[in-house]
Amino acid sequence: MRLLITGGAGFIASNYIRHVLSAHPEYHVVNLDKLTYAGNLENLRDIEASERYTFIRGDICDRELLEGIEFDAIIHFAAESHVDRSILDARPFLETNIMGTNNLLEIARQRECTLLHISTDEVYGSTAEGFFNEDSPLMPNSPYAASKASSDLLVRSYIETHNIRAMITRCSNNYGPYQFPEKLIPLVISNAAGRKPIPVYGDGMNVRDWIHVSDHCRAVDAVFHKGSAGEVYNIGSRNEMPNIEIVKLILETVAERLGLEDGALMDLITYVDDRKGHDRRYAIDPAKIERETGWKPETAFKEGITGTIEWYLAHEEWWQRIVSGEYMNYYNVQYGERLKN
Ligand code: NAD
Ligand code: TYD
Repeated sequence: MRLLITGGAGFIASNYIRHVLSAHPEYHVVNLDKLTYAGNLENLRDIEASERYTFIRGDICDRELLEGIEFDAIIHFAAESHVDRSILDARPFLETNIMGTNNLLEIARQRECTLLHISTDEVYGSTAEGFFNEDSPLMPNSPYAASKASSDLLVRSYIETHNIRAMITRCSNNYGPYQFPEKLIPLVISNAAGRKPIPVYGDGMNVRDWIHVSDHCRAVDAVFHKGSAGEVYNIGSRNEMPNIEIVKLILETVAERLGLEDGALMDLITYVDDRKGHDRRYAIDPAKIERETGWKPETAFKEGITGTIEWYLAHEEWWQRIVSGEYMNYYNVQYGERLKN
Protein backbone atom coordinates (compact mmCIF):
# COMPACT_ATOMS: atom_id res chain seq x y z
CA MET A 1 0.00 0.00 0.00
CA ARG A 2 1.37 3.38 -1.06
CA LEU A 3 -0.58 5.98 0.89
CA LEU A 4 -0.74 9.61 -0.19
CA ILE A 5 -1.05 11.72 2.95
CA THR A 6 -1.74 15.39 2.32
CA GLY A 7 -0.68 17.98 4.90
CA GLY A 8 1.71 15.52 6.56
CA ALA A 9 3.96 18.22 7.99
CA GLY A 10 1.11 19.61 10.11
CA PHE A 11 0.03 18.65 13.60
CA ILE A 12 -2.39 15.74 13.16
CA ALA A 13 -1.02 14.22 9.95
CA SER A 14 2.59 14.17 11.25
CA ASN A 15 1.31 12.16 14.22
CA TYR A 16 -0.66 9.99 11.80
CA ILE A 17 2.36 9.30 9.57
CA ARG A 18 4.32 8.14 12.62
CA HIS A 19 1.37 5.92 13.55
CA VAL A 20 1.12 4.36 10.06
CA LEU A 21 4.82 3.63 9.74
CA SER A 22 4.83 1.75 13.03
CA ALA A 23 1.37 0.08 12.79
CA HIS A 24 1.69 -1.05 9.13
CA PRO A 25 5.24 -2.21 8.38
CA GLU A 26 4.32 -2.96 4.75
CA TYR A 27 2.99 0.54 3.96
CA HIS A 28 4.83 3.33 2.17
CA VAL A 29 3.81 6.93 2.95
CA VAL A 30 4.05 9.77 0.45
CA ASN A 31 3.67 13.06 2.29
CA LEU A 32 2.51 15.94 0.08
CA ASP A 33 2.69 19.26 1.91
CA LYS A 34 2.93 22.85 0.74
CA LEU A 35 4.77 23.88 3.92
CA THR A 36 2.61 26.85 4.77
CA TYR A 37 3.32 28.61 8.07
CA ALA A 38 1.72 25.56 9.77
CA GLY A 39 3.79 22.88 8.02
CA ASN A 40 6.95 21.97 9.89
CA LEU A 41 9.32 19.24 8.73
CA GLU A 42 10.82 19.13 12.19
CA ASN A 43 7.64 17.30 13.24
CA LEU A 44 8.89 14.32 11.22
CA ARG A 45 12.58 14.43 11.95
CA ASP A 46 12.59 10.99 13.64
CA ILE A 47 11.12 9.23 10.60
CA GLU A 48 12.33 11.29 7.64
CA ALA A 49 15.18 8.86 6.86
CA SER A 50 12.84 5.86 6.64
CA GLU A 51 12.88 4.06 3.29
CA ARG A 52 9.11 3.80 3.59
CA TYR A 53 8.65 7.58 3.62
CA THR A 54 8.81 10.12 0.77
CA PHE A 55 8.29 13.87 1.12
CA ILE A 56 7.07 16.03 -1.74
CA ARG A 57 6.75 19.74 -1.27
CA GLY A 58 3.69 20.82 -3.20
CA ASP A 59 0.24 22.32 -3.25
CA ILE A 60 -2.94 20.22 -3.44
CA CYS A 61 -4.25 22.97 -5.74
CA ASP A 62 -1.56 22.00 -8.29
CA ARG A 63 -3.36 19.41 -10.42
CA GLU A 64 -0.42 18.68 -12.68
CA LEU A 65 1.77 17.86 -9.72
CA LEU A 66 -0.88 15.52 -8.29
CA GLU A 67 -1.15 13.71 -11.60
CA GLY A 68 2.55 12.86 -11.47
CA ILE A 69 2.46 11.19 -8.05
CA GLU A 70 2.04 7.42 -7.66
CA PHE A 71 -0.16 6.10 -4.87
CA ASP A 72 -2.92 3.58 -4.10
CA ALA A 73 -5.12 5.60 -1.71
CA ILE A 74 -5.43 9.12 -0.29
CA ILE A 75 -5.88 10.29 3.29
CA HIS A 76 -6.54 13.98 2.99
CA PHE A 77 -5.57 16.12 5.99
CA ALA A 78 -4.18 19.25 4.28
CA ALA A 79 -6.12 22.37 5.16
CA GLU A 80 -5.97 25.90 6.38
CA SER A 81 -7.08 25.09 9.91
CA HIS A 82 -7.21 28.12 12.21
CA VAL A 83 -10.56 29.85 12.79
CA ASP A 84 -9.03 33.21 13.77
CA ARG A 85 -7.04 33.37 10.53
CA SER A 86 -10.18 32.58 8.51
CA ILE A 87 -11.89 35.57 10.13
CA LEU A 88 -9.03 37.83 9.00
CA ASP A 89 -8.78 36.41 5.46
CA ALA A 90 -11.02 33.61 4.17
CA ARG A 91 -9.44 33.29 0.73
CA PRO A 92 -6.66 30.76 1.43
CA PHE A 93 -9.30 28.63 3.19
CA LEU A 94 -11.46 28.58 0.09
CA GLU A 95 -8.53 27.80 -2.19
CA THR A 96 -6.99 24.98 -0.20
CA ASN A 97 -9.97 23.51 1.60
CA ILE A 98 -12.40 23.63 -1.31
CA MET A 99 -10.44 23.79 -4.58
CA GLY A 100 -7.63 21.60 -3.27
CA THR A 101 -10.10 18.96 -2.09
CA ASN A 102 -11.82 19.06 -5.47
CA ASN A 103 -8.49 18.28 -7.20
CA LEU A 104 -7.97 15.26 -4.96
CA LEU A 105 -11.51 14.06 -5.67
CA GLU A 106 -10.84 14.32 -9.41
CA ILE A 107 -7.66 12.27 -9.04
CA ALA A 108 -9.49 9.69 -6.90
CA ARG A 109 -12.18 9.49 -9.57
CA GLN A 110 -9.70 9.02 -12.42
CA ARG A 111 -7.67 6.39 -10.59
CA GLU A 112 -10.61 4.70 -8.87
CA CYS A 113 -8.80 4.83 -5.54
CA THR A 114 -10.11 5.30 -1.99
CA LEU A 115 -10.12 8.80 -0.51
CA LEU A 116 -10.56 9.39 3.21
CA HIS A 117 -11.41 13.03 3.84
CA ILE A 118 -10.47 14.40 7.28
CA SER A 119 -13.10 16.89 8.37
CA THR A 120 -14.13 18.48 11.64
CA ASP A 121 -17.07 18.71 14.07
CA GLU A 122 -17.07 22.46 13.38
CA VAL A 123 -19.14 21.82 10.23
CA TYR A 124 -22.14 21.22 12.52
CA GLY A 125 -21.90 24.67 14.12
CA SER A 126 -22.73 25.18 17.76
CA THR A 127 -25.22 23.31 19.92
CA ALA A 128 -26.58 24.34 23.33
CA GLU A 129 -27.52 20.81 24.30
CA GLY A 130 -27.33 17.25 22.99
CA PHE A 131 -24.66 15.85 20.69
CA PHE A 132 -23.82 16.06 17.01
CA ASN A 133 -24.38 12.80 15.18
CA GLU A 134 -23.60 12.10 11.53
CA ASP A 135 -27.10 13.20 10.48
CA SER A 136 -27.00 16.56 12.25
CA PRO A 137 -27.42 19.46 9.80
CA LEU A 138 -24.31 21.28 8.62
CA MET A 139 -24.49 24.80 10.09
CA PRO A 140 -20.95 26.21 9.88
CA ASN A 141 -20.38 29.58 11.58
CA SER A 142 -16.81 30.57 10.68
CA PRO A 143 -15.27 30.84 7.20
CA TYR A 144 -12.98 27.94 8.22
CA ALA A 145 -15.96 25.75 9.14
CA ALA A 146 -17.83 26.83 5.99
CA SER A 147 -14.86 25.85 3.81
CA LYS A 148 -14.67 22.44 5.52
CA ALA A 149 -18.44 21.94 5.17
CA SER A 150 -18.11 22.82 1.48
CA SER A 151 -15.40 20.22 1.01
CA ASP A 152 -17.52 17.62 2.85
CA LEU A 153 -20.39 18.33 0.45
CA LEU A 154 -18.07 18.01 -2.54
CA VAL A 155 -16.94 14.61 -1.25
CA ARG A 156 -20.57 13.60 -0.86
CA SER A 157 -21.35 14.77 -4.39
CA TYR A 158 -18.47 12.72 -5.88
CA ILE A 159 -19.72 9.66 -4.02
CA GLU A 160 -23.26 10.18 -5.34
CA THR A 161 -22.39 11.36 -8.85
CA HIS A 162 -19.19 9.55 -9.71
CA ASN A 163 -19.50 6.59 -7.35
CA ILE A 164 -16.02 7.11 -5.93
CA ARG A 165 -14.97 5.12 -2.84
CA ALA A 166 -14.71 7.86 -0.22
CA MET A 167 -15.38 8.35 3.49
CA ILE A 168 -15.47 11.38 5.76
CA THR A 169 -14.40 11.67 9.40
CA ARG A 170 -15.47 14.58 11.61
CA CYS A 171 -13.37 14.87 14.73
CA SER A 172 -13.58 17.12 17.77
CA ASN A 173 -10.76 19.39 19.04
CA ASN A 174 -7.39 17.64 19.12
CA TYR A 175 -4.47 18.23 21.48
CA GLY A 176 -1.05 16.60 21.84
CA PRO A 177 2.57 16.89 20.64
CA TYR A 178 3.48 19.04 17.61
CA GLN A 179 0.36 21.24 17.65
CA PHE A 180 1.14 24.69 16.28
CA PRO A 181 1.17 27.15 19.21
CA GLU A 182 -1.59 29.38 17.82
CA LYS A 183 -4.22 26.86 19.03
CA LEU A 184 -5.55 27.11 22.58
CA ILE A 185 -3.70 24.33 24.42
CA PRO A 186 -0.16 24.79 23.07
CA LEU A 187 -0.61 28.58 23.22
CA VAL A 188 -1.45 28.41 26.93
CA ILE A 189 1.44 26.06 27.71
CA SER A 190 4.05 28.06 25.79
CA ASN A 191 2.81 31.43 27.08
CA ALA A 192 2.78 30.08 30.65
CA ALA A 193 6.35 28.80 30.28
CA GLY A 194 7.40 32.23 28.95
CA ARG A 195 5.28 34.09 31.60
CA LYS A 196 3.29 35.80 28.83
CA PRO A 197 -0.40 36.81 29.11
CA ILE A 198 -2.94 34.10 28.27
CA PRO A 199 -5.75 35.55 26.11
CA VAL A 200 -9.12 34.07 27.09
CA TYR A 201 -11.85 34.98 24.61
CA GLY A 202 -15.17 36.29 25.99
CA ASP A 203 -16.22 34.78 29.31
CA GLY A 204 -14.07 31.64 28.90
CA MET A 205 -17.17 29.43 29.12
CA ASN A 206 -17.14 28.18 25.52
CA VAL A 207 -17.12 24.41 25.55
CA ARG A 208 -15.00 22.15 23.34
CA ASP A 209 -14.85 18.35 23.25
CA TRP A 210 -11.14 17.43 23.50
CA ILE A 211 -9.49 14.30 22.12
CA HIS A 212 -5.84 13.26 22.25
CA VAL A 213 -4.29 13.24 18.78
CA SER A 214 -3.16 9.60 19.19
CA ASP A 215 -6.81 8.55 19.61
CA HIS A 216 -7.74 10.55 16.50
CA CYS A 217 -4.94 8.82 14.54
CA ARG A 218 -6.16 5.37 15.62
CA ALA A 219 -9.70 6.38 14.64
CA VAL A 220 -8.60 7.50 11.15
CA ASP A 221 -6.83 4.18 10.73
CA ALA A 222 -9.94 2.31 11.89
CA VAL A 223 -12.16 4.12 9.38
CA PHE A 224 -9.64 3.67 6.55
CA HIS A 225 -9.46 -0.10 7.13
CA LYS A 226 -12.90 -0.97 8.52
CA GLY A 227 -15.24 1.88 7.57
CA SER A 228 -17.93 1.49 4.91
CA ALA A 229 -17.59 3.35 1.62
CA GLY A 230 -19.73 6.46 1.35
CA GLU A 231 -20.15 6.87 5.12
CA VAL A 232 -19.43 9.70 7.56
CA TYR A 233 -17.93 8.94 10.99
CA ASN A 234 -17.85 11.31 13.95
CA ILE A 235 -14.81 11.00 16.21
CA GLY A 236 -14.75 12.23 19.78
CA SER A 237 -13.94 11.11 23.28
CA ARG A 238 -16.89 12.46 25.29
CA ASN A 239 -14.74 15.01 27.05
CA GLU A 240 -16.42 18.39 27.11
CA MET A 241 -14.73 21.21 28.98
CA PRO A 242 -15.10 24.99 29.20
CA ASN A 243 -11.98 26.82 28.02
CA ILE A 244 -11.29 28.51 31.34
CA GLU A 245 -11.19 25.17 33.14
CA ILE A 246 -8.52 23.92 30.75
CA VAL A 247 -6.54 27.13 31.06
CA LYS A 248 -6.51 26.85 34.86
CA LEU A 249 -5.59 23.18 34.79
CA ILE A 250 -2.66 23.91 32.48
CA LEU A 251 -1.47 26.84 34.58
CA GLU A 252 -1.57 24.72 37.77
CA THR A 253 0.34 21.87 36.13
CA VAL A 254 2.97 24.11 34.53
CA ALA A 255 3.52 25.91 37.86
CA GLU A 256 3.94 22.59 39.61
CA ARG A 257 6.37 21.24 36.97
CA LEU A 258 8.43 24.45 37.13
CA GLY A 259 8.57 24.26 40.95
CA LEU A 260 6.54 27.47 41.42
CA GLU A 261 3.99 28.15 44.16
CA ASP A 262 0.37 27.09 43.70
CA GLY A 263 -1.48 29.77 41.73
CA ALA A 264 1.76 31.52 40.73
CA LEU A 265 0.75 31.69 37.04
CA MET A 266 -2.96 32.48 37.44
CA ASP A 267 -2.36 36.23 37.02
CA LEU A 268 -1.43 35.57 33.40
CA ILE A 269 -5.11 34.96 32.58
CA THR A 270 -6.27 37.93 30.51
CA TYR A 271 -9.87 38.15 29.35
CA VAL A 272 -10.01 39.68 25.87
CA ASP A 273 -12.75 40.57 23.36
CA ASP A 274 -14.64 37.56 22.13
CA ARG A 275 -13.90 35.95 18.76
CA LYS A 276 -16.47 37.02 16.13
CA GLY A 277 -19.15 34.36 15.63
CA HIS A 278 -17.58 32.31 18.44
CA ASP A 279 -19.24 28.87 18.63
CA ARG A 280 -20.48 28.27 22.17
CA ARG A 281 -20.35 24.49 22.38
CA TYR A 282 -19.24 21.49 20.32
CA ALA A 283 -20.14 17.99 21.46
CA ILE A 284 -19.72 14.80 19.44
CA ASP A 285 -21.52 11.48 19.62
CA PRO A 286 -18.94 8.87 18.50
CA ALA A 287 -21.27 5.84 18.85
CA LYS A 288 -21.20 4.99 15.12
CA ILE A 289 -17.44 4.60 14.76
CA GLU A 290 -17.34 2.64 18.03
CA ARG A 291 -20.09 0.31 16.88
CA GLU A 292 -18.89 -0.21 13.31
CA THR A 293 -15.12 -0.36 13.73
CA GLY A 294 -14.57 -1.28 17.39
CA TRP A 295 -12.47 1.88 17.91
CA LYS A 296 -12.53 3.50 21.35
CA PRO A 297 -10.56 6.42 22.77
CA GLU A 298 -7.80 5.25 25.12
CA THR A 299 -6.34 8.43 26.58
CA ALA A 300 -8.10 9.97 29.58
CA PHE A 301 -7.93 13.78 29.48
CA LYS A 302 -5.98 14.21 32.74
CA GLU A 303 -3.30 11.78 31.59
CA GLY A 304 -3.22 13.18 28.04
CA ILE A 305 -2.97 16.83 29.04
CA THR A 306 -0.24 16.09 31.62
CA GLY A 307 1.77 14.20 28.98
CA THR A 308 1.22 17.04 26.50
CA ILE A 309 2.36 19.69 28.98
CA GLU A 310 5.46 17.62 29.74
CA TRP A 311 6.16 17.23 26.01
CA TYR A 312 5.99 21.01 25.42
CA LEU A 313 8.17 21.77 28.44
CA ALA A 314 10.72 19.22 27.20
CA HIS A 315 10.61 20.52 23.61
CA GLU A 316 10.93 24.24 24.18
CA GLU A 317 13.40 24.49 21.32
CA TRP A 318 10.70 23.22 18.93
CA TRP A 319 8.09 25.84 19.82
CA GLN A 320 10.56 28.67 20.51
CA ARG A 321 11.70 28.43 16.90
CA ILE A 322 8.06 28.86 15.86
CA VAL A 323 7.03 31.64 18.21
CA SER A 324 10.22 33.60 17.53
CA GLY A 325 9.58 33.36 13.77
CA GLU A 326 13.01 31.77 13.40
CA TYR A 327 11.75 28.48 12.02
CA MET A 328 11.55 29.50 8.37
CA ASN A 329 15.28 30.28 8.51
CA TYR A 330 15.81 26.97 10.26
CA TYR A 331 14.04 25.20 7.38
CA ASN A 332 16.23 26.86 4.84
CA VAL A 333 19.38 25.76 6.62
CA GLN A 334 18.21 22.22 7.46
CA TYR A 335 16.13 21.41 4.42
CA GLY A 336 17.21 24.02 1.86
CA GLU A 337 17.98 21.60 -0.94
CA ARG A 338 14.67 19.83 -0.67
CA LEU A 339 12.70 23.05 -0.43
CA LYS A 340 13.95 24.26 -3.79
CA ASN A 341 11.57 22.01 -5.75
P1 NAD B 1 -2.34 22.11 10.66
O1 NAD B 1 -2.68 23.53 10.34
O2 NAD B 1 -1.45 21.82 11.82
O3 NAD B 1 -1.63 21.45 9.37
C1 NAD B 1 -2.11 21.65 8.08
C2 NAD B 1 -1.03 21.15 7.12
O4 NAD B 1 -1.54 21.27 5.78
C3 NAD B 1 0.27 21.96 7.17
O5 NAD B 1 1.38 21.08 7.18
C4 NAD B 1 0.24 22.78 5.89
O6 NAD B 1 1.54 23.09 5.39
C5 NAD B 1 -0.53 21.86 4.97
N1 NAD B 1 -1.19 22.58 3.87
C6 NAD B 1 -1.97 23.70 3.97
N2 NAD B 1 -2.38 24.08 2.75
C7 NAD B 1 -1.87 23.19 1.86
C8 NAD B 1 -1.97 23.02 0.45
N3 NAD B 1 -2.65 23.90 -0.31
N4 NAD B 1 -1.35 21.97 -0.14
C9 NAD B 1 -0.64 21.08 0.62
N5 NAD B 1 -0.50 21.19 1.96
C10 NAD B 1 -1.11 22.23 2.57
O7 NAD B 1 -3.71 21.34 10.77
P2 NAD B 1 -4.20 20.20 11.78
O8 NAD B 1 -4.67 20.84 13.02
O9 NAD B 1 -3.16 19.14 11.84
O10 NAD B 1 -5.47 19.67 10.99
C11 NAD B 1 -5.35 18.67 9.98
C12 NAD B 1 -6.72 18.34 9.42
O11 NAD B 1 -7.57 17.88 10.47
C13 NAD B 1 -7.44 19.54 8.80
O12 NAD B 1 -8.14 19.10 7.66
C14 NAD B 1 -8.42 19.99 9.88
O13 NAD B 1 -9.55 20.61 9.32
C15 NAD B 1 -8.76 18.66 10.53
N6 NAD B 1 -9.17 18.72 11.95
C16 NAD B 1 -8.39 19.38 12.86
C17 NAD B 1 -8.77 19.38 14.21
C18 NAD B 1 -7.92 20.06 15.27
O14 NAD B 1 -8.33 20.11 16.43
N7 NAD B 1 -6.72 20.55 14.96
C19 NAD B 1 -9.95 18.75 14.60
C20 NAD B 1 -10.72 18.08 13.64
C21 NAD B 1 -10.29 18.08 12.31
P1 TYD C 1 -8.84 26.88 19.00
O1 TYD C 1 -7.72 26.11 19.59
O2 TYD C 1 -8.54 28.01 18.08
O3 TYD C 1 -9.80 25.80 18.30
P2 TYD C 1 -11.29 25.99 17.67
O4 TYD C 1 -11.60 27.40 17.53
O5 TYD C 1 -11.11 25.32 16.36
O6 TYD C 1 -12.20 25.26 18.61
O7 TYD C 1 -9.75 27.45 20.19
C1 TYD C 1 -10.30 26.60 21.16
C2 TYD C 1 -11.18 27.44 22.06
O8 TYD C 1 -10.34 28.35 22.79
C3 TYD C 1 -12.16 28.33 21.30
O9 TYD C 1 -13.37 28.41 22.06
C4 TYD C 1 -11.48 29.69 21.25
C5 TYD C 1 -10.69 29.72 22.55
N1 TYD C 1 -9.42 30.48 22.51
C6 TYD C 1 -9.15 31.42 23.51
O10 TYD C 1 -9.96 31.66 24.42
N2 TYD C 1 -7.95 32.09 23.46
C7 TYD C 1 -7.04 31.86 22.47
O11 TYD C 1 -5.96 32.54 22.44
C8 TYD C 1 -7.32 30.88 21.46
C9 TYD C 1 -6.34 30.61 20.35
C10 TYD C 1 -8.53 30.21 21.52
